[in-house]
Amino acid sequence: MPSTAIVGTGFYVPERVVTNDELTRYMDTSDEWIVERTGIRERRWVTDGMSGTEMARRASVMALEDARMAAADIDAIVLGTLSPDHFFPGNGVFLQRDLGLESVPALDIRAQCSGFVYGLSVADAWIRSGQFRTVLLVGVEIQSTGLDISTRGRDLAVLFGDGAGAVVLTATEDDDRGVLSTHIHSDGRYAETLWTEAASSRKNPRISAEDIEAGRHFPTMTGKDVFKHAVTRMPEVVQEALAANDLEVADIDLLIPHQANLRISKMVQHRLGLPDHKVVNNIDRYGNTTAATIPIALAEAVRSDRLHAGDLLCLVAFGSGFTWGSALIRW
Ligand SMILES: CC(C)(COP(=O)(O)OP(=O)(O)OC[C@H]1O[C@@H](n2cnc3c(N)ncnc32)[C@H](O)[C@@H]1OP(=O)(O)O)[C@@H](O)C(=O)NCCC(=O)NCCS
Repeated sequence: MPSTAIVGTGFYVPERVVTNDELTRYMDTSDEWIVERTGIRERRWVTDGMSGTEMARRASVMALEDARMAAADIDAIVLGTLSPDHFFPGNGVFLQRDLGLESVPALDIRAQCSGFVYGLSVADAWIRSGQFRTVLLVGVEIQSTGLDISTRGRDLAVLFGDGAGAVVLTATEDDDRGVLSTHIHSDGRYAETLWTEAASSRKNPRISAEDIEAGRHFPTMTGKDVFKHAVTRMPEVVQEALAANDLEVADIDLLIPHQANLRISKMVQHRLGLPDHKVVNNIDRYGNTTAATIPIALAEAVRSDRLHAGDLLCLVAFGSGFTWGSALIRW
C-alpha cells in the first residue's frame, strides 16, 4: 500500500495588515489586552474584490510550483473552509474551475479549525487505498467580512484573520516518509459554544431583519469553554497519535498546533513538555485563520528551514463543533 507524502506547500495572505492599534478605532480594546490574552499583534484582512477561492488558487499555485507539478497532475481537491464564497456550491468547485481543471472531484470539508486535519485524513485514505494518486488539500478562510467589528463583538473580532494554505499530497512507495496516521474526533454537545446561528435553512426566510438586528449573523463564542476544551483535547489527541505509532513526545521534531491563541498553544506545548524550538507559532502576524492556520504555518516552516528529511512532524487542531484531530508525518 502506498503512503501519502507532502511534496509541496504554499500560502497566501491578503496584503492589508490590520494592527491591534487599528482595531482600537472600531471597538473598546487595546494592543496590551490583545497581546496578553492572545499573542496576536496583527492579522491580514481582505480588501474588496478578494475571494476565498482566489486566495485558495494563489496558495495552490505556490504549492504546485513547490512540488514541481502542474495543475493537470491533480486527481482530486479537498478544501476546508467555514466561510465559503457562497452558501452553495462550495469553494472546491470554484477552485477546480479557476485552476483550469475539467472534471476532477472537489470535496468541501466543514470542520472549522480542524478542517485541514480532517481533510488530510480523507486525502490520506484516498491515496492509501489507491483511489487517487495526487490530491490538492487547501484550507482557506475569510473571517473579516463576517465579524462584528464593534465593542459588542470584540472578544471574537480581535482573534480572526484571513488567509489560505495549500499542500500537494501524492502517493509514495518510499517507506521512510509520509503520513503515519491521522486521528479525528468531534463532540456535538458543544456545537453552539462557538458558532454562527444565521443564516439558517431551518428558517424561512433564512435570515431576517430581526436576526441582523440581534447580530445572529455574527459568530459567538463562550471563550473560556473553548479554551478549556482546546488545552485538554489537543495534547490528548497528540498522545493518541504517538501511542498508535509506538512513539513518544521526545520523538517529535516539530509540532504545528492550530493557531487559535498563543496561550492555548503554549499550554499545549507545556502539557506535552516540548521545548520552544519544536513548536511553530505565527499567530502574532496572522491571528486565527481557522482552516488555514496549519498549512500557512507549515509552508512558512518549510521556507525557514525548520523541517528536514526524516523529521517527525505533528499537526494538531481544535475548533468549533467541537472538532479536533492530529496527524503524524515522517517528513
Ligand atoms: C477570548 C479569550 C481571549 C478571552 O479571554 P478571557 O481571559 O477568557 O477573558 P474573559 O472572556 O474573561 O473577558 C475578560 C474581560 O475582557 C473583556 N474583553 C473581551 N474581549 C475583549 C477585547 N477584545 N478587548 C478588551 N477587553 C475584552 C470582557 O468583556 C471581560 O470584561 P469584564 O470582565 O468586564 O466582563 C479567551 O477566552 C480565549 O482565548 N478563548 C479561546 C478562543 C479561541 O481560541 N477561539 C477559537 C478556537 S478555534
